[in-house]
Amino acid sequence: MPIVPVCAPEQESRYDIHIGHGLLHRAAPLFSAYEGRRAAVVADSHTAPLYAQALLGQLAQAGIDATLVTLPAGETTKCPEQLSVLYDAFLDARLTRVDLVIALGGGVIGDITGYAACTYLRGVHFIQVPTTLLAQVDSSVGGKVAVNHPRGKNLLGAFYQPELVLIDCDTLRTLDARQFGAGLGEVIKYGCIADGALFDQLESLGSREALLPRLDGVIARCCEIKARYVKEDPHDHGVRMQLNFGHTLAHALENAMGYGTLLHGEAVCIGMVAAARWGEALGTTPVGTVGRIRRLLEAYGLPAERPAGLSSEALAATMALDKKAEGAVIRTVQLTKIGACTGVPLTSAQLRDLL
Ligand code: GLY
Repeated sequence: MPIVPVCAPEQESRYDIHIGHGLLHRAAPLFSAYEGRRAAVVADSHTAPLYAQALLGQLAQAGIDATLVTLPAGETTKCPEQLSVLYDAFLDARLTRVDLVIALGGGVIGDITGYAACTYLRGVHFIQVPTTLLAQVDSSVGGKVAVNHPRGKNLLGAFYQPELVLIDCDTLRTLDARQFGAGLGEVIKYGCIADGALFDQLESLGSREALLPRLDGVIARCCEIKARYVKEDPHDHGVRMQLNFGHTLAHALENAMGYGTLLHGEAVCIGMVAAARWGEALGTTPVGTVGRIRRLLEAYGLPAERPAGLSSEALAATMALDKKAEGAVIRTVQLTKIGACTGVPLTSAQLRDLL
């Protein structure tokens, strides 16, 4: 069973990511440090019926008195109102500062539960049990927690590292194909920005079916890469921004098309092809890179081009409002080859011309 250590030195935080099959049914020993405590397991209406019973059983075996809190499934749950629902549930369960909050679900549940764990009583113990591929390779690792504000995504947030991440690869069996594909977009991103060998491996496997038997190793590799970024730049002031490859256009597309029309990982796929194209046009990225990324995305059944009818002016204007914009300059990430990248600042006018 792969174990990936994560260290966020500025936050004095170290924890392990455990990756394996059937972990939800044999996790009790991993909870032994919390024996005698109370816990709230936060799931959504999709993950609670599938996995809560197994997790609650393991917590009981570890001597932890756990309560289940179930929120509605979907992005709209990541809001201040549902945060209040969590605080009420934690108070009803009489959680104190020695107690534990566990997120059981995808990115939405991980983000809102982490934010609640960070702010309730100024911070209680927090564990992530991610059940989507995207959450397993990205959002459950590295401590970014948040809820949305009516004026924008993730505007209320914090850095709050979990103390343990449990990835049971069997949960991916119940994930629908589109959500799985969205996670694959982020996997391909790691290959593009940091690991040419991972990109080569995905190319030679060439399909979702061929990837499945190798998935736990691939998830572990993605977690190792993410852990390296978190160690170097836990607060996202520098090199961690490379994880945003493809995200400049992705965020603008999600915003322009209405959140939920394109899944985040799908928008990232389209954004990666666009960013590679900008890099080729500017001479940062070797010619031919766009073609390789496009072919890989197509092999895995993922989108590569933005839907017709979205104006370049409107997209460039939205990109200028991105959280990562600095004054008139938008920090894009461009590939110097498959497996390495660099930050390239561009103005909104440059981006409009490149789109
Ligand atoms: N999802 C990007 C990051 O954690 O920095």
